[in-house]
Amino acid sequence: MSSIALDVINAGPEHAPAIVDIIQRSFGARPELDPPSDALDESVESVAATLAGPGGLLVERRGQPMGALLFDESRPGLLGLRRVAVDPDLQARGVASAMVGVAEDTAEERGKDGIWLRVREELPDTVRFWTRRRYYPLRREGAFLELGKTLWLAREVPTPEAMQELAARVSTLVRAGDLLVLAGDLGAGKTTFTQGLGAGLDVRGPITSPTFVLARTHPSLNDGPPLVHVDAYRLGSVEEVDDIDLDASTEEAVTVVEWGTGVAEQLSDSWLSVTIEVRGARPIDPLGTPAGEDEVGDDAEPRVVTIKPNGPRWVGVPLRSTLLGQGA
Ligand SMILES: Nc1ncnc2c1ncn2[C@@H]1O[C@H](COP(=O)(O)OP(=O)(O)OP(=O)(O)O)[C@@H](O)[C@H]1O
Ligand SMILES: [Mg+2]
Repeated sequence: MSSIALDVINAGPEHAPAIVDIIQRSFGARPELDPPSDALDESVESVAATLAGPGGLLVERRGQPMGALLFDESRPGLLGLRRVAVDPDLQARGVASAMVGVAEDTAEERGKDGIWLRVREELPDTVRFWTRRRYYPLRREGAFLELGKTLWLAREVPTPEAMQELAARVSTLVRAGDLLVLAGDLGAGKTTFTQGLGAGLDVRGPITSPTFVLARTHPSLNDGPPLVHVDAYRLGSVEEVDDIDLDASTEEAVTVVEWGTGVAEQLSDSWLSVTIEVRGARPIDPLGTPAGEDEVGDDAEPRVVTIKPNGPRWVGVPLRSTLLGQGA
């Protein structure tokens, strides 16, 4: 595919005429809807007022307007998308995708946890456009379906203690029935993360690598959920996961599966994936520092942890602000 060279512009009031034009062409080309859309009531003044406040995006190609959307900041911690409009002659050209990508970046830059928008249930192609991009239904309101998406995050984690502290923060967001899938090479820190999660949930330890058992249940020390810790390293298939009878306890427990990528996800429609990477470890010293000097008694090596929410369970959960927030 040749590059289309789309420009996605952070729109200001001066872009209001172009945006109103696109809104009218896009919404005007839709089938008759009940109730009719109030998008067609937007004027240059009303759009300019929005652009002067929360703002919006305008997509151009060689100076020609092709798509637009308006932002909504009325909900704390969330960025709303309104009037998502694409020139009706250009629907299939990636204009909407480009806008959504920039909108998600904007939400991140503004320190938001997620995005919401409302779509017409009568427009299945529109609904599909968003669900393919992992926007999940939150609630119905008349003809509208509200969709939401929680933003993922990546964080540097310098030490094993910081790994446990991050996991303890995650523990404040989880509840019975949740599934966490941990990925990362041997020794990356999956068990270390699980220990921090267990400490945060206040379950009975010790949490160790489950070498001889595939799954171990750590009961709560108060009245919270137990932690089920699974090591799927030697598991080949979903059938085997079923064999160890996880399903029985997943409803009441917080379940953590090390090496669970591609296996554990099939247990639930929602899960949190936690991927731990060892980055760049020790730089090679061209002057040849004598052996041992860079290993002086501390085994802390930075990790990069990527946490991605999957499925409807995580919509509305303040992942980024909780895990990147003050002191993180
Ligand atoms: N930044 C860090 N975060 C987490 N662990 C770290 C970090 N730096 C060093 N470590 C060390 O790396 C080791 C991680 O071991 P851990 O058992 O948690 O890994 P794992 O991913 O569970 O391995 P396995 O694949 O064998 O199950 C620990 O010894 C820990 O002290
Ligand atoms: Mg482990």
